[in-house]
Amino acid sequence: MAYDVQGKNVLVTGASSGIGAALAEGFAVRGATVGICARRADRLAEVLARVQQHAPGSRSWTIDLSDLGGVADFAAQVERELAGVDVLVNNAGIPKRRHVTRLTPDECEAVMTINYFSSMRLTLALLPGIVERGGRVVNISSVAARLGPPIEAAYAASKAALTAFSECMAVDLRETDVGVHVVNPGVIDTELFHLPDNEEGFHRSVDALPVDAIVEPVLTMLDTGAIEGYVPEWFTDVVASKFQDTDGFIAGTKAYASDAESARS
Ligand SMILES: NC(=O)c1ccc[n+]([C@@H]2O[C@H](COP(=O)([O-])OP(=O)(O)OC[C@H]3O[C@@H](n4cnc5c(N)ncnc54)[C@H](OP(=O)(O)O)[C@@H]3O)[C@@H](O)[C@H]2O)c1
Repeated sequence: MAYDVQGKNVLVTGASSGIGAALAEGFAVRGATVGICARRADRLAEVLARVQQHAPGSRSWTIDLSDLGGVADFAAQVERELAGVDVLVNNAGIPKRRHVTRLTPDECEAVMTINYFSSMRLTLALLPGIVERGGRVVNISSVAARLGPPIEAAYAASKAALTAFSECMAVDLRETDVGVHVVNPGVIDTELFHLPDNEEGFHRSVDALPVDAIVEPVLTMLDTGAIEGYVPEWFTDVVASKFQDTDGFIAGTKAYASDAESARS
């Protein structure tokens, strides 16, 4: 089941910063040719320059993946210009930290559009080629998909959709050589926690990991074939404890959120 990324073509979405940029470099260092995409052309160019030091054939595309009508054409362009995709990393995403009473349907749908629908469309468009090449699909989900965190209803729902899609896809592709992986970061120090139009989060109770900490765990998942992985790993036990006693866990989360809010005021 070990998967060597050397010589493979890897597409990483949302690679202009944070986890996507770190993964793009990580794949390039290990000998993959990497395609990267995002909306901010200047930031993408900086990442591409670093990636090309290791993998000169790598390239970038500036695209807004929430424009769903363009995703299939983009997939075809990447397949053409990268000469096929072996590994797709669906990483592009946005946060939404907003109390459910202040959420609007439009906000929920915007989060779902980039965090789930665009990844779903890109996956379906690239899947025939990935099946043919016995490739890998890596979906960057979140611990939020599993835990019911405060003020993250819109975000957690979008990630839960991505996680469920991934698990079912892994089952459906059982007769192929394709591997499917769901990565659930906990708190990784990225710009995601500083974007405007978000309420004050509850993440400060968890020590943030530096962004490079995500690279080895993801590459190890490709090697071991593990379908789901948490970074940091101790979130595996937190999630297991939730599923053993969901009522107790949600009661604990409510108490934690109330205490944290009182401490702020
Ligand atoms: N950091 C964490 O602790 C954490 C925890 C759980 C899950 N995650 C997930 O990890 C992924 C990466 O996030 P990050 O923490 O690395 O934050 P980040 O630095 O803000 O990265 C998000 C990336 O997604 C891109 N993106 C956002 N909207 C896009 C759009 N409409 N079209 C194309 N690209 C778009 C951004 O680029 P542009 O703005 O240039 O388009 C950026 O490259 C996200 O899916 C996030 O939900 C992160």
